[in-house]
Amino acid sequence: MSHLIAPSVLSANFANLEKDIEMINASEADWFHVDVMDGVFVPNISFGFPVIKALQKLAKKPLDVHLMIVDPDKFTQAFKDVGADTLTVHLEACTHLHRSIQNIKNVGMKAGVAINPHTPIHLLEDIIADIDLVCMMSVNPGFGGQKFIENTFDKVIKLKQLIKNKNSKALIEIDGGVDLNNYKKLINCGADVLVAGNTVFSSPSPSKTISQLKQI
Ligand code: DX5
Ligand code: ZN
Repeated sequence: MSHLIAPSVLSANFANLEKDIEMINASEADWFHVDVMDGVFVPNISFGFPVIKALQKLAKKPLDVHLMIVDPDKFTQAFKDVGADTLTVHLEACTHLHRSIQNIKNVGMKAGVAINPHTPIHLLEDIIADIDLVCMMSVNPGFGGQKFIENTFDKVIKLKQLIKNKNSKALIEIDGGVDLNNYKKLINCGADVLVAGNTVFSSPSPSKTISQLKQI
């Protein structure tokens, strides 16, 4: 499988979201990456159900929803109802992670687990076979446009090995600070999905930048 690109809607223009959604629809992007922040798990608040519902009406590609919230189990069904295809919860936010993953799968979504930059790969050992995606944070979650943390490369290699050892089908998604200088190295280390916010939306031609990120 060639790698996937998931532009992060967080960096889109919310005063004219339709234009950016149409741009992603017409581009070589594979998924919409949708960041939900609650101001508790992360020091920022993004957007919630009304925005995702509006997005879902126009989006022609899967919605990859990344929850940076505490107690995500409360909202599993609600995210399914607004059109999430993949729902990712943070390992650090889930006391009963296995149960959270089962809930997501039971309502018919793909299940992802996100890990913060300080969280070691071995904590995924006993959940990796049950999940569809690992969202590896390559910045501290909460904001777009931050600097990529270089230690991520080693973590991707370790995670790839764990996935192989456990016969897991999980995809490795990299989230934060992905740009035209580091994306190829990430793919070579084993990344399957690259999230890109600032790199796409602050470029003069977002759709051209998406095409560039698709090249190997
Ligand atoms: C950060 C979010 C990211 C963010 C990435 O907390 O999870 O998805 O939008 O943005 P960039 O690509 O600008 O670092
Ligand atoms: Zn994200």
